Amino acid sequence: MNDETLIVVVGGAGKLGRLIVESVLEQRGARVRVLVRDPSKPEVAALAGDRVELVAFDAVSATDAERAQAVRGAFAVVSALQGGPDVIIDAQLALARAAKAAGARRFLPSDYSFDFFTLPAGINVNSDWRRTFAERAAELVSPSFEVVHVLQGIFADRYVLGFLGLLDAEHGVLRYWGDGTTPIDWTTWEDTARFAAAAALDESSVPARLHVSGDRMDALTFADTWERVHGRTLTRERLGSLEDLERETQRRLAAEPSNLYAWLPLMYARGVFGGEALLGPTHNARYPAIQAETVAQAMARGAV
Ligand SMILES: NC(=O)c1ccc[n+]([C@@H]2O[C@H](COP(=O)([O-])OP(=O)(O)OC[C@H]3O[C@@H](n4cnc5c(N)ncnc54)[C@H](OP(=O)(O)O)[C@@H]3O)[C@@H](O)[C@H]2O)c1
Repeated sequence: MNDETLIVVVGGAGKLGRLIVESVLEQRGARVRVLVRDPSKPEVAALAGDRVELVAFDAVSATDAERAQAVRGAFAVVSALQGGPDVIIDAQLALARAAKAAGARRFLPSDYSFDFFTLPAGINVNSDWRRTFAERAAELVSPSFEVVHVLQGIFADRYVLGFLGLLDAEHGVLRYWGDGTTPIDWTTWEDTARFAAAAALDESSVPARLHVSGDRMDALTFADTWERVHGRTLTRERLGSLEDLERETQRRLAAEPSNLYAWLPLMYARGVFGGEALLGPTHNARYPAIQAETVAQAMARGAV
């Protein structure tokens, strides 16, 4: 890395985006341009620093000229955007094209997921959009331009597990679908950000599907581990079979199509408990400076 290595982070005001910015800045000589809708937001202002440039940018409404300006000089462009197909497919594709035209080495889309490439279509809308992006972005790949999908399973985090309706730490309940023995890949938010930053800054060629992980553990072992680490009892509640989960997802989708909080967590649960979207052999060893936390370690510091 030379002293002028510039990483552009779009979605840098979001939870993962801020961690990616911090992880890039931990590398000496790297600097960051953070593209944010509202630079006056307190969490954005908190990122200000010597090696940080904050730029107002709306990924959906940006013109080609604004996009070209936003990514000029970038070694890599990293997305941590969240949104619908206008953001995940259209805006990210436009940014990836701009990154390539500007001579960037690579684009990292906002994936940070279980391996949705091996998840059948129609199970999770967010995964479907990311797969569509990947198919279209593959056309941009050349010997000098990479598109790198960071895949790390689910975040070992009590809020993510709460969103999925799986862990209610307050009341001591762990809920699961299936028989509870399907392996699940776990990585913390912080380690995911570290791997994304390392991949962005990598001077060598990076695998197009970068599999990284902190741990692999099924739901019942997760419950045993949680009890041991926290010294509390968890009630294990089986919610039903995978077929029950799919039926319940369709029922909620039909009843409340515009309320994504009703059905999106179930779509993720299907990805988690179905077993199809497990990671392949991980690429952790590419980045030995990152010692990814295990589930037990994440629990011990209170993340789960
Ligand atoms: N595997 C897992 O367990 C897991 C869990 C959670 C998240 N994730 C993934 O991690 C990624 C980031 O998620 P997150 O929770 O960090 O998201 P987040 O906190 O909601 O942040 C998303 C960011 O995108 C920005 N954004 C949205 N539309 C934009 C636009 N048109 N122009 C510019 N910026 C825009 C938002 O800007 P504003 O600040 O202006 O709103 C926000 O800062 C996503 O791909 C998500 O699916 C994975």
